[in-house]
Amino acid sequence: MRPKVTVVGGAGNVGATVGQYLVAKELADVVLIDILESVQHGRALDLLETGPILGSNSRIVGTREYRDTADSDIVVVTAGIPRKPGMSRDDLLNTNARIVGEVVDRITAHSPRCILIVVSNPLDAMTQLALKRSGFTRERVIGMAGVLDAARMQTFIAQELRVSVENVHACVLGGHGDAMVPLPRYSTVAGIPITELLPPERVEALVKRTAGGGGEILALLGTGSAYYAPGASVVEMVEAILKDRKKILPCCVYLDGEYGIHGLCVGVPVKLGAGGVEQIIEIRLTPDETTALHRSAAAVKELVDILKL
Ligand code: NAI
Ligand code: 2OP
Repeated sequence: MRPKVTVVGGAGNVGATVGQYLVAKELADVVLIDILESVQHGRALDLLETGPILGSNSRIVGTREYRDTADSDIVVVTAGIPRKPGMSRDDLLNTNARIVGEVVDRITAHSPRCILIVVSNPLDAMTQLALKRSGFTRERVIGMAGVLDAARMQTFIAQELRVSVENVHACVLGGHGDAMVPLPRYSTVAGIPITELLPPERVEALVKRTAGGGGEILALLGTGSAYYAPGASVVEMVEAILKDRKKILPCCVYLDGEYGIHGLCVGVPVKLGAGGVEQIIEIRLTPDETTALHRSAAAVKELVDILKL
């Protein structure tokens, strides 16, 4: 029997893209749930019909009914509104908090043992909200942002140095906002830090482009935010969990003293396996890097305080 993954907001761009990659990789049977009348049914049927071409027997259904999500192994929460040009992720706070709160209540009633992967923005505050509303342990409530931000940085490094993306590793910590913390010292090409391969002004340019990576796509699309790379990022996390890969990925998790941060969901490297977050990895930071991480965490805390979490 295949595992079951539910995607809430499954009629939307990120949700449907998660469904697309899950089916293409035959990782799970998939439920796309949304409040819309029929779009999620259309998305699901369209994706189901890719099965014979891609050689995938994954089942995928669209629904509005939470009973169809029962006993999911993983639930991905993409429900909410995306940014429009001119908006920051933080502008979504109150609307998406209402939506994510309701969704988490209904999901956990039907899938009390699931692992939650939160995608809705502002990501770190929504992850903290999901953690509190679900009552789950921190191992089972994980925000997706670092995988995406690191993938963007990897892309830019590979372009800059004209090397395969497979040779590039990038490390991004902190909240998924303007104050995120790309770490050049821990970003490497074939094991060599980019600080040894590029002059400081080029490194700085890559860092800046990474932090503005979501805004860059938003401005180009004009109607909404990115979804192909976000969808692929979620599926990398899902795969690590379902296959118990013990893969180290940057994810948003509740910190309880790690990195000197207390009681806040922020992006750090974690080990993902069958149990969800199996370890929080603490890498050694310079005083400047620590200051930047704490500044980013303070921006997350402002939102968490508004929501009184
Ligand atoms: P979208 O507008 O295409 O899809 C959102 C879907 O949520 C819609 O189909 C809508 O009907 C549904 N929805 C709204 N309220 C709902 C409810 N109560 N229950 C179930 N479904 C509901 O938006 P898109 O582009 O898919 O983005 C979704 C969210 O993910 C946004 O908040 C966006 O900012 C965020 N995002 C986060 C990323 C990250 O790195 N963490 C990356 C990309 C997007
Ligand atoms: C992004 O970074 C919208 O947060 C999303 O593309």
